[in-house]
Amino acid sequence: MLTAALLGLALAESELPAVSIIPQPVSVKPTNGFFQLNHDTAIGASKAERAVANYLAQRLRPSTGFPLPIQSQGSIQLKLEKGHPNEGYRLSVTPTKVEIRASAPNGLLYGVQSLLQLFPHQAFGDKAYQGTLWTLPCLEIKDQPRFAWRGAHLDVGRHFMPKEDVKRYIDLLAMHKLNTFHFHLTEDQGWRIEIKKYPKLTEVGAWRKDTMLKYSPKTYSGQPHGGFYTQDEIREIVAYASERFITVVPEIEMPGHARAAIAAYPELGNLPNKLDVFTDWGVCEDILNVEESTITFMQDVLTEVMDLFPSKFIHIGGDEAPKKQWEQSPRVQARMKELGVKDEHALQSWFIGRMDKFLDSKGRRLIGWSEILEGGLAPGAALMVWLGNEGAMTAVKSGHDVVMAQTSHTYFDYYQTRKVATEPHSIGGYVPLSKVYSYEPILPEMTAEQAKHVMGAQFQIWTEYIPNFKRVEYHAFPRGAALAEVVWSPKEARDLESFRARLPKHLLRLDEMQVGYRMPNAFDDTDD
Ligand code: ACM
Repeated sequence: MLTAALLGLALAESELPAVSIIPQPVSVKPTNGFFQLNHDTAIGASKAERAVANYLAQRLRPSTGFPLPIQSQGSIQLKLEKGHPNEGYRLSVTPTKVEIRASAPNGLLYGVQSLLQLFPHQAFGDKAYQGTLWTLPCLEIKDQPRFAWRGAHLDVGRHFMPKEDVKRYIDLLAMHKLNTFHFHLTEDQGWRIEIKKYPKLTEVGAWRKDTMLKYSPKTYSGQPHGGFYTQDEIREIVAYASERFITVVPEIEMPGHARAAIAAYPELGNLPNKLDVFTDWGVCEDILNVEESTITFMQDVLTEVMDLFPSKFIHIGGDEAPKKQWEQSPRVQARMKELGVKDEHALQSWFIGRMDKFLDSKGRRLIGWSEILEGGLAPGAALMVWLGNEGAMTAVKSGHDVVMAQTSHTYFDYYQTRKVATEPHSIGGYVPLSKVYSYEPILPEMTAEQAKHVMGAQFQIWTEYIPNFKRVEYHAFPRGAALAEVVWSPKEARDLESFRARLPKHLLRLDEMQVGYRMPNAFDDTDD
């Protein structure tokens, strides 16, 4: 049967490479023969390896229909032992035994992800495939990631995505050996996380009256939109991610992108009039004021956020905070004098600096978007670079860590093709698959010492024009597979032709999982 992936690429299944692992491992050495999974196969794991063994069994039981019991010894053996690189693993397949070895459970899980991709793609389905031969080619794999921060962002502020969708996203990240989920929880158009001390943040701030469909000319759906995660749901999401060795980095936007918070608590704003939760897209002028009570309010929010998210990094946004209201407000101008702050950019730096000190005092680290450079970077802060390279250079030269997340290669809300007439309406831009694949997080002008400050990279899914999770999948894949290879595989192993050859089998896996990815166009090299 030709599935969607093969039809789109005009290939027969027999033409696909036998080993099509994405992201490409550090080294794959084929050996002779095959291992065959059968009704009697057991998974061997001791107590420390058991959680990963469970993950493997749960993935394979539905499609194979085999019981795959977990016992101390099995012909698929998971083994924790010293001496393997951080997050790395070794996978060996012989005709009689499959072995995955690693120093820590996260490495074992990455070994399991590679193992799953050695099976026929039907292994990724959730229904039993009678008659499939569950064979693995014999080989030796040695693998470890290139970067420590391998991320994906999801904006649930513009469009709320229910908990089950977020879990599916986490599953897809895990499959691609990504380890950081950047959860963009607050926006002008919606506040999505329950904060016990300030219930109106969600009672008021999680709901908007209308939703913009097009920016120009301005068109609206007439539909209200809203939703939020209770703290219990957040805990559930964080635990689910943690079982897959994914750190959830929460983002609470300040001082900009905070109109929903100001709608809920007008005392946070600069204007006397009451505001609604924003119903337009684009940069909003309503930003937080700089009163001590506002600093306390946001720190109270961060305290609850830190209780929920064990992540070392807490993202405070910091992007796109227009200074107009601060310039025009006599109260803000007086406050600037009182604080001895010279201009509004320095005031933004003061604001972020207060959060930096606060997070630091709690043993956490602040990360924020490019604009937190304005007026000087707070001492412990890390920079998430969405704008140009200059910001990244300024940060690394002064010894600050960076995560590369630039619009040019990692904004997956942008179009994937130039033929936009037949695409769902998107925010604009053009980030085709091949461009994502070419992304290099280490800039040529960085010294080796500066390059050490590049923690990694991530892709972004902003959801102004992405109203549901099916559309998230359409934007995220297969570009997310390309970005996974950028952050995991050695630079020397990066080869677009090899990626293209491995991609069809990967798309078959995504077909099995019913992921609504966008079919790359194999017939037109100029237009992915
Ligand atoms: C951003 O795109 N405003 C970070």
